[in-house]
Amino acid sequence: MISLNNVTKKFDDKTATYELNFKINEGEIFGLLGENGAGKTTTLRMLATMLKPTSGNITVCGFDTVKQDSKVRENIGIMFGGETGLYDRLTAKENIEYFGMLYDMDKNKLDEQIKKISKILEMDEYIDKRVANFSKGMKQKVAFARTIIHNPKVLLLDEPTSGLDVTAAVQVHEFIKSCKKDGRTVVFSSHTMSEVEKLCDRVAIIHKGKLIDLDTLDNLRVKYNEENLEKLFTDLIKGGNE
Ligand SMILES: Nc1ncnc2c1ncn2[C@@H]1O[C@H](COP(=O)(O)OP(=O)(O)O)[C@@H](O)[C@H]1O
Ligand SMILES: [Mg+2]
Repeated sequence: MISLNNVTKKFDDKTATYELNFKINEGEIFGLLGENGAGKTTTLRMLATMLKPTSGNITVCGFDTVKQDSKVRENIGIMFGGETGLYDRLTAKENIEYFGMLYDMDKNKLDEQIKKISKILEMDEYIDKRVANFSKGMKQKVAFARTIIHNPKVLLLDEPTSGLDVTAAVQVHEFIKSCKKDGRTVVFSSHTMSEVEKLCDRVAIIHKGKLIDLDTLDNLRVKYNEENLEKLFTDLIKGGNE
């Protein structure tokens, strides 16, 4: 589904990712785990065609993120940073419609899709209200709806729960699980093992731009003979500093 081949990204003399080599399978929830500065956002931005690798290449759904970037964009839904970037003056529905139009969706298809998503995310009560007075949780749902309005196969979410309270974070987790149920592939970044543990089929641990390990959580437990994944993560990172 997604393949990174020797992906290095440099900003001037700073190496943000170094020869990343891995594959993400169709339909899995895949976690990118690392401390601040590990290279998570850079990796996701390259997958999302927002940044070009300095060397190496990436394919998403078989399309090259540099040579076939518009094909890649048709197949991905993205959410970067805590900011939802909604237009306060517009209703929830109008906010979602606006996004759909950016994807060239036809009006009927768009209406149908909004109805469906509104039901799933339980937004019917406020779908026609202006978002200005929405709670954080309601805005969050509008943002979710936007990321999947064009029915993308792949979701790329950069620290989707960062800065959220527990209730909103749980909503994000439920959303991620529902995307998997719908057959989507979800890639998300996090700096906490506990979150990754709840959701992920497999996790890539990255540190200072390098892939330290990649496996299922069960396999990692066995490999390092450590039940406590939080400890396993911090030990691995420490090892990476030596
Ligand atoms: N636009 C940029 N210009 C220069 N350096 C950058 C830029 N973006 C990221 N970096 C550097 O690349 C490294 C990885 O950053 P980032 O991918 O944001 O990490 P993470 O998301 O894991 O916190 C950091 O050292 C960061 O300072
Ligand atoms: Mg980041």
